Amino acid sequence: MTKKIALVTGGTGGIGTQICRRLADQGFQVVANHLAAESEAAADWREHLTADGYEFGLAAGDVSDFDDAARMVREVEANFGPIAVLVNCAGITRDSTLRKMGHEDWQAVINTNLNGVFNVTRQVADGMLERRAGRIINISSINGQQGQFGQTNYSAAKAGVHGFTMALAREVAAKGITVNTVSPGYIITAMTKAIPENIMDQIISLIPMRRMGNPDDVAAAVGFLAGPDADYITGADISVNGGLGMG
Ligand code: CAA
Ligand code: NAP
Repeated sequence: MTKKIALVTGGTGGIGTQICRRLADQGFQVVANHLAAESEAAADWREHLTADGYEFGLAAGDVSDFDDAARMVREVEANFGPIAVLVNCAGITRDSTLRKMGHEDWQAVINTNLNGVFNVTRQVADGMLERRAGRIINISSINGQQGQFGQTNYSAAKAGVHGFTMALAREVAAKGITVNTVSPGYIITAMTKAIPENIMDQIISLIPMRRMGNPDDVAAAVGFLAGPDADYITGADISVNGGLGMG
């Protein structure tokens, strides 16, 4: 039987890698998107995971660039087939207080984390609507739900991601497509390794479970939303955060 295609943007990153593995374990042919400048690293990534039995496709493309995202999606469809599951996972941080934030840091984060979700989903949605089937899963953040000191750009983008999820979920709910958000708390990846240790210690002290999460914790929620048990879930925001910000 032909495998269904899942496209994961930022698929070679910390959380993206575990999402790719999880979806492949569930029987999808997974295609991991990465930046063209990282093609060599992405090839190494794929090679490394081949040793674990995974056969991932790769798709170079910059999600923050509308035309490049369109080209990337067309290539994925031509090389692999129609996209059944889209996981918008690509993201960056450029943290600083608003007083110190330059226009570039604002633009970069909004373009990648919010506009990137539009740029890729806009290309994928038409095919899903024609087939009357599809799953779209957007990776937001605890910091989009409650805001974070030093992250006006990131919090705005991630809050926007869930607004996008809810609006699109309503547009396509009767057409066989679900759209959901997963909002991770603090997860051990390169992104959180960049946080100064003293600040990270303060953050961990606020997490009811008193520890960071693992990429697999996020991948499990994404896998659930991509699978048949989540048929009746749309417009939802699933928190994976060790209890941070509950209530
Ligand atoms: N709450 C309230 N006040 C704070 C504060 C906080 N969390 N952090 C710092 N301050 C205060 C400082 O005490 C200082 O006060 P005074 O001026 O009175 O002395 C003032 O704010 C300036 O603070 P800093 O000197 O820290 O300012 P800075 O410019 O050097 O650093 C920062 C600012 C870069 C934002 C730094 O605070 C930081 O890195 N914060 C962490 C931000 C964060 O959590 N990022 C998450 C990245 S990972 C991610 O985003 C993944 C995800 O989705 C969860
Ligand atoms: P990560 O390891 O840095 O992964 C981010 C990935 O996105 C990287 O592979 C990166 O590629 C890719 N990317 C960045 N800009 C891109 C672009 N313009 N086009 C295509 N790909 C691009 O960080 P992560 O922690 O796994 O983050 C994954 C997602 O989870 C992000 O959306 C992040 O905001 C979100 N999140 C993370 C946490 C956390 O605590 N780690 C918490 C909540 C939400 P390069 O490596 O080549 O730059």
